[in-house]
Amino acid sequence: MAETITVLSQKGGTGKTTAVRTLADVYRRIGLEVLCADLDPQGNLSDYFDVPADASPTMADVLAGQAKAADAVHDDVLPANLGLAEAELVLGGKMGRELTLRRSLSEVRGYYDLVLVDCPPSLGLLTVNALVAADHAVISSEAEYFSLQGVEQALEVVELARDSLHPELDWLGVVLNIADMRLVHAREALQQLRDRFGERVFEAVIRRSVRYAESAERGVSILDYAPDLGADYLALADELLARLDGYREERGRLAALRAELVPA
Ligand SMILES: Nc1ncnc2c1ncn2[C@@H]1O[C@H](COP(=O)(O)OP(=O)(O)OP(=O)(O)O)[C@@H](O)[C@H]1O
Ligand SMILES: [Mg+2]
Repeated sequence: MAETITVLSQKGGTGKTTAVRTLADVYRRIGLEVLCADLDPQGNLSDYFDVPADASPTMADVLAGQAKAADAVHDDVLPANLGLAEAELVLGGKMGRELTLRRSLSEVRGYYDLVLVDCPPSLGLLTVNALVAADHAVISSEAEYFSLQGVEQALEVVELARDSLHPELDWLGVVLNIADMRLVHAREALQQLRDRFGERVFEAVIRRSVRYAESAERGVSILDYAPDLGADYLALADELLARLDGYREERGRLAALRAELVPA
């Protein structure tokens, strides 16, 4: 049974989709079967993976109860598009609305080692569905003023999901993302997070670089486009596996991948 990890944040543009995409890339390169589920009506993750715009059915159909998850998986991506915004509205009026994704994904989890879920830039019903469907939550936080408040708010929703719907939900931690560590405020943001959340803050910090936008535009993974930067995600991927337990062999393969991509 796949372990499911949901990446969320309180606001937009914190690097969630890039994280899901790049982590999936890392894990696939070390031989794990990874399903990527797009829960954002913007469909950025689906675009990253080049899912055709007319792919059907999609996440919207799954959440509307009109398709099975297995039929909506296209090349190991469960894609989303604007139709998901409408599906969210309809879902809002239904019984068990917070459990819909969990139930749907249960049919396909057996085929994968990991399921990574990308959330929309809000803490509404879609994100709650993503949390209830998950074993683990990871918060992505941009290194900005008010980072701490954003993480606190995201964590409140994690706790709400845990208390009222899904007691086993585990908060894996928070990653400081898109961080220019030359700037005082980025270093302060990291320190504030560490003061508040201690070891829940991942050691790996994802550095800010224009090369992410360039690599996305060219449809090339950051691991190939700028391996020195991709090293941040290799480190994060390793820390995640370490926190999940039981991935010793995979972590060995990850070390080998790192040695290959980023020679010392
Ligand atoms: N480490 C980084 N450094 C610089 N730019 C980055 C980095 N990671 C992602 N980006 C860029 O920042 C923008 C936002 O990233 P991304 O789409 O991953 O964030 P998001 O949290 O998924 O956004 P949304 O909330 O809108 O879904 C994109 O243009 C992406 O290419
Ligand atoms: Mg996104």
